[in-house]
Amino acid sequence: MAVKTNILDVRARQVLDSRGNPTVEAEVESGRAMGRASVPSGASKGRHEALELRDGGERFHGMGVAKAVGNVRGALRRGVVGLRVDDQRRLDHKMISLDGTPDKSKLGANAILAVSMASAKAAANSNGVSLFVQLRKSGRYILPVPMMNVINGGEHAGNDLAVQEFLIEPVGASSCAEAIRMGSEVYHSLKAILVSEHGRGAINVGDEGGFAPPFRLTREALGSIRKAVSASGYSEKEVKLGIDAAASTFYDEKSGRYTLDGHAMSGEALEDHYARLRDEFGLLTIEDPFHEEAFDDFASITKRLGRSTKVIGDDIYVTNVARIKLGIEKKATNAVLIKLNQIGTVSETEDAIGLARAAGWTPVVSHRSGETEDPFIAHLATAFGADFIKTGAPARGERVAKYNELLRIEEELRSKAGYAGRELG
Ligand code: PGA
Ligand code: ZN
Repeated sequence: MAVKTNILDVRARQVLDSRGNPTVEAEVESGRAMGRASVPSGASKGRHEALELRDGGERFHGMGVAKAVGNVRGALRRGVVGLRVDDQRRLDHKMISLDGTPDKSKLGANAILAVSMASAKAAANSNGVSLFVQLRKSGRYILPVPMMNVINGGEHAGNDLAVQEFLIEPVGASSCAEAIRMGSEVYHSLKAILVSEHGRGAINVGDEGGFAPPFRLTREALGSIRKAVSASGYSEKEVKLGIDAAASTFYDEKSGRYTLDGHAMSGEALEDHYARLRDEFGLLTIEDPFHEEAFDDFASITKRLGRSTKVIGDDIYVTNVARIKLGIEKKATNAVLIKLNQIGTVSETEDAIGLARAAGWTPVVSHRSGETEDPFIAHLATAFGADFIKTGAPARGERVAKYNELLRIEEELRSKAGYAGRELG
């Protein structure tokens, strides 16, 4: 039986994220229990994301979040104390109206999201259930396929790879735990291959725990991962490959060209380039192949490759229902990346996932490159049936926090949980 309980207090503080930058941590006290949550932060952000409020000035090189913390302690606390802790929608809408701006720039999406997440946890703790149960109480839970970023490039690493992420996707596993084991094995095979072929300097890691070898070409990275899959004893059917191009980061607005793999290319030429890579490496997922306003180019590649490849929109949609609707109208993609802090509340994130599902799209719940040890997204993905979870390499504490939480969730559910892998491969 769910117990009715109200929010008694809200606290907040500045903590550090995985890049050593400040971020907001909030605590919501219900009288029965407390929930604590902290928000992540991106590096290759979409232009239309909700606003992350930063202090500017000298402290923390301008990256401080003291103002956002102050907003939690002040306006947000005053607004939400007394509300039901388990009425997530009411709470989120109250905060949205207190802010009053379309991009949450008055109080800061980082302030609002911290309270939204902490409240969900306080509700779960008050009811004595796991967070994923609190978020969705009934139905069959399906655990997501981990998308593990094993080679880092773009803005997440100090190498010359233009593509930001090179991912392994163990769709052939029979459970999430087995997928995590397979991912870890491939990661370590890759490490050995990189050392033997390129020396120890090739195994330094980037922001998301993937290796950052001194490669220039997309093919070099995919080729070494393919070798690692096979060295681990898996077939290309069992462990699929994917990329996140994060193409806005190598797009030049003036010339309208993308600089990748030694060439400056038009959108059309880039589509051909991806199609060749897809054919050669059997890519299951291609995220952000074009810049964040290029709906027509997205639609073109989805039409061409979408039967067997998930074309995922991240920066183009920024977890925003209005932009996802536009994408559905234009048939721009067949999958969408879901990041809590792009939109700023748990309820709006749930709506984005629901909209994608209703359109027959594949939702992919994702971390940010700047993360904390908070495993919230493992519960979010389980609760709302995301087919994939993208949360970095199987290394670095802030990344494995999510994978480890999935292990616990699967254990709690035992035979009641399914695994999303089979139909996706
Ligand atoms: P970000 O990268 O967190 O730096 O934005 C993640 C992604 O692009 O998917
Ligand atoms: Zn992305």
